[in-house]
Amino acid sequence: NQSRVGALFDLYAGVTRSFHYLLKETGTGKKALDYLYARGFSDDIIDTFQLGYAPQDPNWLYDFLKKKGYSSDFLAESGLFSRNDSRYPLFRNRLIIPIASTQGRVIAFGGRLLEGEGPKYLNSPETPIFRKSRTLFGLDKAVKAVRSSGRFFLCEGYMDVMALYQAGIPESLAPLGTSFTQDQANLLKRYADRGILLFDNDDAGQAAAAKSIVLCAKSGIETSIAAVAGGKDPADILEKEGGQALQKLLQYTINSLDYLVEKAMARFSAGTPEGKHRILSDLAPFIEAQDSAVKRDGYLGRLSDMLEVNVTALTADLSQKTTPSR
Ligand code: GTP
Ligand code: MN
Ligand code: MN
Ligand code: MN
Ligand code: MN
Repeated sequence: NQSRVGALFDLYAGVTRSFHYLLKETGTGKKALDYLYARGFSDDIIDTFQLGYAPQDPNWLYDFLKKKGYSSDFLAESGLFSRNDSRYPLFRNRLIIPIASTQGRVIAFGGRLLEGEGPKYLNSPETPIFRKSRTLFGLDKAVKAVRSSGRFFLCEGYMDVMALYQAGIPESLAPLGTSFTQDQANLLKRYADRGILLFDNDDAGQAAAAKSIVLCAKSGIETSIAAVAGGKDPADILEKEGGQALQKLLQYTINSLDYLVEKAMARFSAGTPEGKHRILSDLAPFIEAQDSAVKRDGYLGRLSDMLEVNVTALTADLSQKTTPSR
């Protein structure tokens, strides 16, 4: 329904402006603004990403939008209010991160907890203008640079994208509180053939990286991995060491095959036939995801050297599908 879609775009644009105003120009937003400064973010970034503050007052948003002439029924379906109580705003006393479409129109919000109890992040529900699995945070600002450089930087969180942007790396993206999807990889393939992954320096981040590598490969995107050392994630590095440290990080990337082999070798012994078989099983999804026989052959050749197993045996095991699914 075309007019409803247009009205939703207008609504989100207006609410974005109001949250941004509350953050920057009023006393209510001050603690959220100080929070951003404490994490090392500049006014420039706060404006570029149109960050905002959703006030604590549970009546503010509904009253404000009613006064603007929006109907209760429209607001109830807008994704801005609770499903149980259609006047109760989803985001209260949270830092607001607008999520934009590729064209740059705000279609949803992420909201970060500033104090007290509750989930660290809340995200808008899906609406006629917001499909989570097809949206990437930062893409609207990244798309031009991604197109011209042919590469993107994929990280885990909103703060990481903004940290990289502030460090002069505009080709930065993140999924929206869910794991990276095949749809998102296919979307990126329209703009770039290469991706550099900067996932969190913890087990969850490393597991997410391994999955994302395979999804990218299935879309025909070659990936490499930047080790986020010296902090938990890119935003931590910006806060603790500054933008230059972030740029430095990107000079040391390792290709995805080496990354996956290194990870598998840390879990399984490359010195025994059983261990070698396990390592191959770990690598199988990545190798099978390659669209090119030449690449598959090249990867098997390198694996053959690293594991000291001949290529014929590797190929036989792969084609036999002896690979247990994890
Ligand atoms: P900061 O602590 O603000 O730096 O967040 P982060 O991005 O480092 O968070 P984390 O690494 O824990 O998670 C990565 C991403 O997952 C976040 O940016 C969010 O999009 C999402 N996420 C984290 N916590 C939650 C949560 O409690 N609920 C939801 N829905 N998403 C979350
Ligand atoms: Mn501004
Ligand atoms: Mn994490
Ligand atoms: Mn993180
Ligand atoms: Mn973080």
